[in-house]
Amino acid sequence: ADNKVYRASTTAPVNIAVVKYWGKRDPKLNLPTNSSISVTLSQADLRTLTTASCSASFDGDSLTLNGQASDISGARTQACFRELRARRAALEAADSSLPKLSTLPLKIVSENNFPTAAGLASSAAGFAALVRAIANLYELTDSPSELSLIARQGSGSACRSLFGGYVAWRMGDKADGTDSKADLISEASHWPNMRALILVVNAAKKDVPSTSGMQQTVATSGLFQQRISQVVPANMILMEEAIRKKDFPQFAEVTMRESNSFHACAADTYPPIFYMNDASRAAIRAVEAINAQAGKTIAAYTYDAGPNCVIYFLEEDEATVVGAFHRFLSGVSGWKASAAEAKSSVELPE
Ligand code: PMV
Repeated sequence: ADNKVYRASTTAPVNIAVVKYWGKRDPKLNLPTNSSISVTLSQADLRTLTTASCSASFDGDSLTLNGQASDISGARTQACFRELRARRAALEAADSSLPKLSTLPLKIVSENNFPTAAGLASSAAGFAALVRAIANLYELTDSPSELSLIARQGSGSACRSLFGGYVAWRMGDKADGTDSKADLISEASHWPNMRALILVVNAAKKDVPSTSGMQQTVATSGLFQQRISQVVPANMILMEEAIRKKDFPQFAEVTMRESNSFHACAADTYPPIFYMNDASRAAIRAVEAINAQAGKTIAAYTYDAGPNCVIYFLEEDEATVVGAFHRFLSGVSGWKASAAEAKSSVELPE
């Protein structure tokens, strides 16, 4: 038998939503109840590096994450493998000179360049890198938007990590999900002085996973109905406009209101879900103090399904914002003493 090993590597960035995805209208296909927008962080600071290989000599499909064997039997990973193999099989059917890779066992090896202990959601970069690595291995010609349809089935937010810069995930309205995909709003170079500071909380408690948190919110929160019918549609328009105009105060206000709205819906579920803790709330007050002192909005906070904080600001305000956080956090219990210093600013990719 031919035991040749075929191989391809790629990286994918972390993205942090400024209009939040929260709620599935179809949990199996990961179809969302609303559109969302994210900012892609610099791959120099936060990225997943993934190598995909396939060979008749492998024992079966496998996935290694940060050196540890990972379970691939889950429906999400299986959906990505199945969709990518089907696309490769279509190429092979059209061109008989191509090697038959679609039937060979796959070996995926994936590593994050940021500590897992940072508690940052890494599934977005993880599934985006997995999909792109296999697409490269199979020499698929699909566009990033088309690949985002596959990554979405691994983890919803992963569909936005197929692009750098400012990215929208359009919810779509088809039942089969073929129009629920990501597209680029602007390259990072459109607004190159955007920066992100990541503040890491010492969290003892395990957070409610996003899938069950979303399910509970859709099922029990009344506030959530207003969020998806009115709040998010208005914020999508305001956020795209803020990005297009490079209007930081508008970008910041929508970002903070979106984070507040998402966490209010989580708290409105029954029983309530609390992702933020006292340290998270203290950082919100710190951002308010920074903005009050500056006399204008120069910093914006946002929180995902956990207590860690991401602060957006512009490069020209870096000394003010990062300096204030460093002074402030050293006196607040619950924050890692070195967080503001150690994480420093995360630049967007060129
Ligand atoms: O992609 P998931 O299923 O891990 O969900 C991500 C949800 C949030 O991070 C809270 C919001 C978002 O849009 O990324």
